[in-house]
Amino acid sequence: ERMADAPTTVTVQLVEPDGTGHALVAPIGTSLMRAAVAAGIDGIKADCGGVMTCATCHVYVDPGWLARLQPPSGDEDAMLEMTAAPRSPTSRLSCQLQLTRALDGLVATLPRTQY
Ligand code: FES
Repeated sequence: ERMADAPTTVTVQLVEPDGTGHALVAPIGTSLMRAAVAAGIDGIKADCGGVMTCATCHVYVDPGWLARLQPPSGDEDAMLEMTAAPRSPTSRLSCQLQLTRALDGLVATLPRTQY
């Protein structure tokens, strides 16, 4: 099967605490954190560069998308206890969310503490 026409990017939506939305076009296979940093989104600090030691890439995933994500690893789960903003049932570390075609349209909100 030729894959030449398969899309190589997805569009994801990051919403600031005040409701301002940013639509990002990102390559499939990158992390949500890398897509946000590349787009200059202030609310994703990602101080550790994605090695899961900073928890400054915390996002609240829109509940409607949660079922499409792999559950957090034990390490991610532990780091989610260290976030500056309160953890919610939809909290994730964006450096651990690999963008797949199934996540085209993903919506996530940024915590107020990362500004
Ligand atoms: Fe540091 Fe995600 S970028 S934990």
